[in-house]
Amino acid sequence: MSGRLKTLMILALMVYALIDHGGMTHAQTGKQVTVYCSILEEQCREGATLFEAATGIKVTMIRKSTGEVYAQIRAEASNPRADVWWGGPGEGHLQAATEGLLMAYQSPRLPELQDWARAYAEKAGYQTSAIYLGALGIGFNTKVLQSKKIPEPKCWADLLNPQFKDEVQIADPASSGTAYVFLATTVQRLGEEQGFAYLKSFHANVSQYTKSGIAPVKATAMGETAVGIGFMHDMITQILDGAPVKTIAPCEGTGYETGSVSLIKGGPNPDSAKLFVDFALSPEAQNINTKLKIHSIPSNKNAVLSPDAPKFSDIKLIDYDTARYGTPAERSRLLTKFEKEIKSLAK
Ligand code: G6P
Repeated sequence: MSGRLKTLMILALMVYALIDHGGMTHAQTGKQVTVYCSILEEQCREGATLFEAATGIKVTMIRKSTGEVYAQIRAEASNPRADVWWGGPGEGHLQAATEGLLMAYQSPRLPELQDWARAYAEKAGYQTSAIYLGALGIGFNTKVLQSKKIPEPKCWADLLNPQFKDEVQIADPASSGTAYVFLATTVQRLGEEQGFAYLKSFHANVSQYTKSGIAPVKATAMGETAVGIGFMHDMITQILDGAPVKTIAPCEGTGYETGSVSLIKGGPNPDSAKLFVDFALSPEAQNINTKLKIHSIPSNKNAVLSPDAPKFSDIKLIDYDTARYGTPAERSRLLTKFEKEIKSLAK
């Protein structure tokens, strides 16, 4: 090949690399997006890979629990570093929305969502959208309970029995969205005064408040704790993996999460961020669950619903009010009260 021809070919390749079109790699598009991710680490990673492959946009993915992401977005409000908040129960997202930390966005994917998800986005002024549902439950390690001769719990009230002293794990509601759903569920089912009385007795049986909501689920599966409070779909993953775990929806009724995705206001890459939100609402992203055996209930009508997903119709649910418990007035107040009146209590 002549030197001139070679130079021309290199030039042509360079021009091609500068054109922005679908299918290009991120090195070629130069585009990027930073995502704070509050679902499971493995879901976050798989989502980044799929999105990069589909769009050529480079994803910087950071996994943190819901309360931690909320606090970080708030701390970075004058100079937002991230573009999207993907996953985690809706209350933190709703609080961020009310505090002006998010940007309203009506994804073209919204018409594909289930009615409950469209109603959720509309009520939130499109500042956040629903990607999945998950019911809160109790999980327990049957081998540990048998060896300690403790009967299997059926109700929230059973967990106050002194037999469970130091046998229960739950996350800290300040960092974990899962644990905040437990706090809000307790207050809604018993009223605030009785709810805090419950939490006080419950505290005596808690061995530790973990940072993330998934930690107690994994600890239950490993037999490091007899009981863990978490989302039933996460317990089911462990059960199908062969762990000696059972999960129940407590007899008094339970609350649930509306897993959400939001655009961060003032993020550095708003166009890529919108594409990521569209992706999070798509069947492709929601079907990551099938691949990774995660059994939350997807919001997109065309996504695959796992046959092992907890059936909401079979669960006694309380009339859980995500919107109310996602207001700054309730969420900040309850978290401060929990810190002061429960977590600081000697055991
Ligand atoms: C897991 C669950 C999700 C939940 C999330 C909350 O990933 O599968 O359904 O939204 O935990 O995490 P956090 O650490 O904030 O409790």
